[in-house]
Amino acid sequence: MRSDLDPADGHRYRIHLCVGTHCAARGSRLLMPVLQRELQAAGVADEIEVLETTCRNRCDFGPSLNVYPGPVWYNEIDAPAVARIVREHLVDGNVVEDLTIASAMRRKRERDARKAALRASRGA
Ligand code: FES
Repeated sequence: MRSDLDPADGHRYRIHLCVGTHCAARGSRLLMPVLQRELQAAGVADEIEVLETTCRNRCDFGPSLNVYPGPVWYNEIDAPAVARIVREHLVDGNVVEDLTIASAMRRKRERDARKAALRASRGA
C-alpha cells in the first residue's frame, strides 16, 4: 500500500480510511460519502487522494483515518470529525489535535480510570 506522496501525481494529501472489520462495525463505511462531500464542498477534492484500506492496527480506536504526509492518525472519528479534518487539516494545514490517536488514547485512559473509581466506590 502506498504511503508516500508522489509530487508528480498532483495530490497535496492522501487519506487512508479504514474499512476493516472493526472500523466498519463502527460506521467507517458511512464516512466515505461524508468525506467525499466535505472535500467537494471545500473545493479540494482534486487535491486529495482518498483510499479505503484494510485494518490499520488501531481497532480499539476506530474508525481510523490516516492523513499523509505524516501519517497523522485520526481515531474515533465520526461525521463531524471528518468535516473538521477536511476544514482544519486539509484546507488550513493544521493537525486537529483533539481528534488524533493520542487524544483518543487519553480519553480511553480517562474512561478506564472513571470505571475503576466507580468499581472501587462500590467495593467491587
Ligand atoms: S479495522 Fe480499522 S483499525 Fe483495525
